[in-house]
Amino acid sequence: MFPIVEKTALHETVSRMTVQAPAIARKAKPGQFIILRIDEQGERIPLTIADTDKEAGTVTIIYQKVGATTRRLDTLNAGDALLDFVGPLGKPSDLEHLAGKRVAVIGGGLGLAIAYPQAKALHALGAVVDMIVGFRSTSLFFLVDELAAVCTNLIVMTDDGSNGRKGFTTTALQEQIDSGVKYDEVIAIGPMPMMRAVAELTRPYGIKTIVSMNPIMIDGTGMCGGCRLTVGGETKFACVDGPEFDGHLVDFDEAILRSRAYRAQEQMSMEAHACNLLGGN
Ligand SMILES: Cc1cc2nc3c(=O)[nH]c(=O)nc-3n(C[C@H](O)[C@H](O)[C@H](O)COP(=O)(O)OP(=O)(O)OC[C@H]3O[C@@H](n4cnc5c(N)ncnc54)[C@H](O)[C@@H]3O)c2cc1C
Ligand code: FES
Repeated sequence: MFPIVEKTALHETVSRMTVQAPAIARKAKPGQFIILRIDEQGERIPLTIADTDKEAGTVTIIYQKVGATTRRLDTLNAGDALLDFVGPLGKPSDLEHLAGKRVAVIGGGLGLAIAYPQAKALHALGAVVDMIVGFRSTSLFFLVDELAAVCTNLIVMTDDGSNGRKGFTTTALQEQIDSGVKYDEVIAIGPMPMMRAVAELTRPYGIKTIVSMNPIMIDGTGMCGGCRLTVGGETKFACVDGPEFDGHLVDFDEAILRSRAYRAQEQMSMEAHACNLLGGN
């Protein structure tokens, strides 16, 4: 069992949980993820390793309550424990070559939690990190202070303009490029339409753009084929070949279609979870 040592709500739909998992804390690198299972009845879900504390032997995850499992996870608190917590999985981010370079790290919605370890590692390598994050509105802000501490410039955009910077993350990236900023690389993590838009924006400038793909994962070991993607015309498995890929080579149309494949089942299990909470059957 993996004891939960802390849980904090970052806002209404996003929480941070710290779990005792010393072996994972020792080995984990930015870009990697874990797969957890709450109990015998639970499904396996992948979540990015947001932070680690090697001395304390803890791993921090940040999750958005989108469906049945993440909502069940959020009913647990410090003192409870998870049945399975497997990792670190996936390939670490390739960041060393960016020491001293200028990088835009773009995080949309929950993606900014996933982008946090990359920004932190790049900052420690001495890269100039422009962090561009997008929220629908100021009421949904989270992690902004933590992100400000690990980047050189933080640009926060809101869809509704409630913080005075109306627009998408791509609006800010375009403004940066137009103002003459030369990026050695762009890292974009967030909803697939956002990552696709960033990759299309950078393509004509020839700026290498890394995206973090989050297809449906089942075993996380390259065996089930659930996380299949097409990248540069070749089949890749996000769990073992990724989750980061060259955004200019990813077939986003196919990835978006595949991510919707289980919508009906996801809806059914969310309704069953709501029913359990109400004590129904
Ligand atoms: C490598 C990777 C890293 C991720 N990191 C994070 C993270 O740090 N924080 C976070 O909140 N979310 C992260 N996700 C997404 C997270 O796994 C899903 O939100 C979670 O599985 C939803 O489960 P659910 O039962 O609550 O929702 P469901 O109702 O089952 O699904 C809601 C949404 O989650 C997606 N999803 C469902 N099951 C899976 C699965 N097994 N694998 C991937 N996606 C799934 C669905 O496509 C759907 O869009 C990551 C996904 C991957 C593949
Ligand atoms: S999750 Fe099964 S092959 Fe990647």
